[in-house]
Amino acid sequence: MIHIQIPATSANMGPGFDSIGIAVQLYNHIWVEEQTTGLTIEVKQKQAIPVPTDETNLIYQTMKYFYDQKGLKLPGIHIIQEDHIPMVRGLGSSAACIVGGLFAANELAGRPCDKEELAQMAAKLEGHPDNSNPAIFGSMVVGALGEKEMKHVRLELPEDLIFAIMVPDFPVSTEKARSVLPDAYSRGDMVFNASRAALLVASMLTGKYENFHVAMEDRVHQPYRSALIPGMNEIFAHAKELGAVASYLSGAGSTLMAMVTEEKAEEFERGMSEYLHQLEHHWELTLLKPDMEGVKIERE
Ligand code: HSE
Repeated sequence: MIHIQIPATSANMGPGFDSIGIAVQLYNHIWVEEQTTGLTIEVKQKQAIPVPTDETNLIYQTMKYFYDQKGLKLPGIHIIQEDHIPMVRGLGSSAACIVGGLFAANELAGRPCDKEELAQMAAKLEGHPDNSNPAIFGSMVVGALGEKEMKHVRLELPEDLIFAIMVPDFPVSTEKARSVLPDAYSRGDMVFNASRAALLVASMLTGKYENFHVAMEDRVHQPYRSALIPGMNEIFAHAKELGAVASYLSGAGSTLMAMVTEEKAEEFERGMSEYLHQLEHHWELTLLKPDMEGVKIERE
């Protein structure tokens, strides 16, 4: 069987809306093989949200898209899907299905595409590259959709950064979270975000963590989405008190992300767990290292 491992991803990082994302060491797994006819999908590691096991399954649909694009006929397919990335929580679970589906289909079809072509396809299918890029290349990736193609640069994340994901018991759909955003922004807001996105990249490259609290401020999406995430601003304030270098809304939410240095990680975990336990909603805190490799494919 073909085995694909895809990391969870966290998009936006504050001001980098639809552009910047990172990958963390939490994975979905997909196994794919050809079968004589039809479609069989087995779902392991079931979550509260059911995964379709018919032709509406996102991995299958993506594989079908790939074969159609290449002018090939999709054979009978057997898919095993093992999901560890929480669904509809802003950690790139849909991007993981799309990336997994594309790489599985490419492998099954005899690798007609290279990684770059698959990254272009994934960005097109997602509509923005901030989850699909880090899912493919690992670490931190800055991307932009050009007129003809998506351009991207992968940055090496510093080794001592830990990503603390705080996953609540409620989902927020990307569709809903995008519908609350305005159609236009003031020049002031545009300058606010453009300067911070640039500062974020420069500070990450030079390890200037002291800039991160400012560099990760945002006026494009977080202020509008905070109404969908009860406790968001209070949790951010508490993360700062506990020594986090920065915190932000992961993707479209509902997960909140805090970045901490390895040195402060234990203290942060203790303090934040205590704080989260007394909130109205249940929040699951997990500290993760970044994934530096991105999607992995092997034949078993
Ligand atoms: N950049 C996207 C958003 C990520 O924030 O809406 C979620 O898919």
